[in-house]
Amino acid sequence: MEKVFQQILYGGDYNPNQWPKEIWTEDMRFFRDAHINSVTINVFSWAKIQPAEDTYNFDELDEIIEMLSRENYNIVLATSTAAVPAWMAKKYPEVMRTDYEGRHHKFGQRQNACPNSLVYQKFARRMAEKLAERYGSNKHVVCWHVNNEYGGECFCENCEKAFRVWLKQKYKTLEALNQAWNLEFWGHTIYDWDEIVLPNALSEELGPNKTAFAGISIDYRRFNSDSLLENFKMERDAIRRFDANTPITTNLMGTYKNLDYFKWAKEMDIVSWDNYPAYNTPWSLVAMSHDLMRGLKGRPFMLMEQTPSQTNWQPYNSLKKPGQMRAQSYQSLAHGADTIQFFQLRRSVGGCEKFHGAVIEHVGTKNTRVFREVAQLGKELAALGDQFLGAENPAQVGIIFDWDNYWALEYTSGPSQDLKYVDQIHQYYSYFYKRNIPVDIIPVDADFSRYKAVVAPVLYMVKDGMQEALETYVKNGGTLVTGFMSGLVDQSDNIHLGGYPGPLRKMAGIWVEEIDALAPEQTNTLKFTDGTTSTCNLLCDIIHLEGATSLADYTSNFYAGSPAVTKHEFGRGNTFYVGTQLPEEALAKVLDQVVNAAHVSPVIDEATELEVTCRTIGQRRYYFIINLTDRTLPLPKEFEGKTDLLSGNLLSAAEHLSPYDVLLVREE
Ligand code: GLA
Ligand code: ZN
Repeated sequence: MEKVFQQILYGGDYNPNQWPKEIWTEDMRFFRDAHINSVTINVFSWAKIQPAEDTYNFDELDEIIEMLSRENYNIVLATSTAAVPAWMAKKYPEVMRTDYEGRHHKFGQRQNACPNSLVYQKFARRMAEKLAERYGSNKHVVCWHVNNEYGGECFCENCEKAFRVWLKQKYKTLEALNQAWNLEFWGHTIYDWDEIVLPNALSEELGPNKTAFAGISIDYRRFNSDSLLENFKMERDAIRRFDANTPITTNLMGTYKNLDYFKWAKEMDIVSWDNYPAYNTPWSLVAMSHDLMRGLKGRPFMLMEQTPSQTNWQPYNSLKKPGQMRAQSYQSLAHGADTIQFFQLRRSVGGCEKFHGAVIEHVGTKNTRVFREVAQLGKELAALGDQFLGAENPAQVGIIFDWDNYWALEYTSGPSQDLKYVDQIHQYYSYFYKRNIPVDIIPVDADFSRYKAVVAPVLYMVKDGMQEALETYVKNGGTLVTGFMSGLVDQSDNIHLGGYPGPLRKMAGIWVEEIDALAPEQTNTLKFTDGTTSTCNLLCDIIHLEGATSLADYTSNFYAGSPAVTKHEFGRGNTFYVGTQLPEEALAKVLDQVVNAAHVSPVIDEATELEVTCRTIGQRRYYFIINLTDRTLPLPKEFEGKTDLLSGNLLSAAEHLSPYDVLLVREE
């Protein structure tokens, strides 16, 4: 793939505006020593560059950009519109958001503007325009960073009006809307567009994940995601009027729930994201988030933010252990990142992020563990140059991720309150991760034919066209894996009548008559055809075979003897259906069969607990071999006699990787 940058951008968020000039000079020296080549500036400087409604003052930003240009940095230039200035909130209170409880907010916080406020839109557009006009032709500006971590939601009257307009466009008639939302239930029928109100604590919702009408609530989430996306597009287009070429991004947040990132990515030149795992986040979940971010466009992405050491906003802000930041950075590169950027370069003096890690700590010297580790990594990345930028991550398995399903599944009232979308996807992902089988995270409208296996856990909402697409895929030899809570509703959250799992019934060759829910303290048991047994929990589908064969039957409860896991030959392919939540080993038993049936192969044949990932450019392959366990592990045979690009060492049979060790092997 074409590379977007000429080198691995290495650097991060830099706020010289918060510091006196002497510090700027020192920063330049320190950055140089850390091999930092890129800085993200102007993220929160709106009040500085527009101190009053009719006053713009770019003096300081000019100076910063001149200095950085002189020093030859790659500048990632933010538009600063993620936190409104105080004067704006005071003069135009409508720019502030109304929250879920219906409280209209005063000045404060960030990500605080109502996306549908015309005043906010006007000022944000103008700011993007002015910045692009002024700096768009500076060749050191290599990327535009619009706003910052778009998110949240607004329930103000402007949004309510805009919601009605959005709905009118979508449904055309009230009849269609009443039907889509099934408003005859409880007699909530709407007879006039302005009877429609936003779903929050004052109307249809009961806590952020419970609603009387999921159709309304899901539409609101779509609308809110679209509203914020319109803000992004508006700034993007404003920049484009003055700068035709520089890539434009905004930083995303992995599996963040509120925004339909597949839709967003279509509007972005390159995806960038902020990776902040907690001390107890499984590495497989970090890997999955990277794969999701890569999957949004099917292209390499920017790692826009990570902390060099610790965050400040998690309940327990543990330090990254020695070597961990480096290992985590290579993990990002392994999964498709083409940049490594930190939040932040210098620790702030005050504000809630003063305990957030940074390349330069409060002590103000280079003599820190963190600085040394950052400098070491910088040196390695500089030595690697641009050789794998744009490289692909080939995968034979696609796992479906879909925001409509995310919202809908978690809104369901019943059968269990413990259904968490990301956890469900992650259980499947981690099977492949542990076996070094590369995975693409794909949208519901992906080209399935590119994959030997398509995995669709909790595919609760099956939208128009999906049945045909999946049936065609399986008929032509594909292997589909799905399971409980799948095929149940349409795009408006109304049930596909005629027997579960609705549109998936034919290809799965089963009918699910009932769905039992088990409380956390309850389990059922089941028995595989090879005689082995397992527990199962959460949900139990009571399945009738309609052409499928059973791979495991329940052995407890009143449905003992009925199938729990099934396989159906359909055309030239197979559909596997996992009707209950299985513990890891039992799920592995099923997925082993999937991998066999679909002839899916891992990156290397040898089983290892090391993370081994491969990026390719044409015939050239880059193997990232990372020890993310807390034990020393042997080098897989495959790499004996190869050279580690990072150390230059020839790898012998005796080679072992300590915790957080990384090797990079290139093969032609
Ligand atoms: C987010 C924001 C940054 C900063 C970091 C702290 O990613 O984009 O401005 O607040 O979190 O972890
Ligand atoms: Zn609003």
